[in-house]
Amino acid sequence: QKVCLAYSGGLDTSCILVWLIEKGYDVVCYMADVGQEEDFDAAVQKAKKIGALDCIVADLKREFVEKLCFPAIQANAIYENVYLLGTSLARPVIAQGQIAVAQKEGCFAVSHGCTGKGNDQVRFELAFYALQPDIKVIAPWRDPEFYNRFPGRDALLDYAAKSGVPVSQSKAKPWSMDENLAHCSYEAGILEDPNTEPPKDMWKLTVDPMDAPNESEEFTLHFQKGLPVKLEYSAKGSKKTATDPVDLFLTANAIARRHGVGRIDIVENRFIGLKSRGCYETPGLTCLRAAHVDLEGLTMDREVRALRDAFLTVPYAKILYNGLYFSPEARFLLDCIPPSQVSVNGAVRCRVYKGAFSVIGRWSDTEKLYDMSESSMDEIGNFSPADTTGFISVQAIRLKKFGKGMLEKGES
Ligand code: ARG
Ligand code: SIN
Repeated sequence: QKVCLAYSGGLDTSCILVWLIEKGYDVVCYMADVGQEEDFDAAVQKAKKIGALDCIVADLKREFVEKLCFPAIQANAIYENVYLLGTSLARPVIAQGQIAVAQKEGCFAVSHGCTGKGNDQVRFELAFYALQPDIKVIAPWRDPEFYNRFPGRDALLDYAAKSGVPVSQSKAKPWSMDENLAHCSYEAGILEDPNTEPPKDMWKLTVDPMDAPNESEEFTLHFQKGLPVKLEYSAKGSKKTATDPVDLFLTANAIARRHGVGRIDIVENRFIGLKSRGCYETPGLTCLRAAHVDLEGLTMDREVRALRDAFLTVPYAKILYNGLYFSPEARFLLDCIPPSQVSVNGAVRCRVYKGAFSVIGRWSDTEKLYDMSESSMDEIGNFSPADTTGFISVQAIRLKKFGKGMLEKGES
């Protein structure tokens, strides 16, 4: 009987691999390349050495950027006002890739190394069941037989040593990480005390804003229908452009990383009801999302924008966070994103400097909602100021009654 295990090359999934083989399964390992810095070849060798039938690496970078990251930018997706969902965004493509491998290899079950307290187990498994309803899931960290046998890291290390699993020399970092093209997350370990500042050397993607260059950097982001289509920047004094989605995303990352943009540190609410402290660095996506939000100011109708904010941005973020990407509600909201973005065409001039992203200008060649002379404080144009007197009087009808009541009750 074949099982497809999501493998990382680390201690946990290596021990899970040994344990599955010990239980009599044939194991095909699966690794998703979503842009994390990783020695895939070494991990593949390791999996095979431990006894995996095979270890398949799927390059999902393009799918990740185009299918998940770009729509998230269009929707301004953000969880609890701060988290840009870097981990949540990658889960649907990773899960889909794993089901594809499981099907191709004829596996009856899939397995993963997520803990029993987190969001990821929920995200992966809901995706598995949506994509293949009869799939079996083996979640060792929720199986008493496994977690009673391996109550801590030492037990895993002993097991690895006994089973001849090579354990990398580097001392384990006192926190857990998850990296992809959009972000890197840090949780658990010493970060569990929400009042402990993360050590300076924890952050791996971005330079410390306090050590960032004294010279700012400027670039221009062009959007069409709310999607980033061109990034203009300069390198070594010459002008460059990136238009391919993956290239554009990586270029935004490179610029933001060297200026320390996109670090956050929060206590968030997990789907299962626990609170958790997380530190995240999301360099490029921070800039892309902020530039997109800005361009909407110039190009989007007020009421469409308000409806989108109320009914799409937060609900879509919650769907992603809770692992409900393969659901009817997600399909529905995804269908609503493009019609909300038809007018979001134009460009935003951006600056990054010592951890901060700022917009320094924006324009649109096609959208004319903003009319400089109409909005100007220095000229009257087609606007009739006298009309506003009536507008204010009508708006004030209710407030006069309310204010009078406040005065009578002495509440003002
Ligand atoms: N708390 C974040 C989220 O739920 C990050 C999860 C990180 N996952 C991991 N396996 N380290 O999206
Ligand atoms: C895990 O528990 O496996 C990682 C954290 C999370 O899923 O939220």
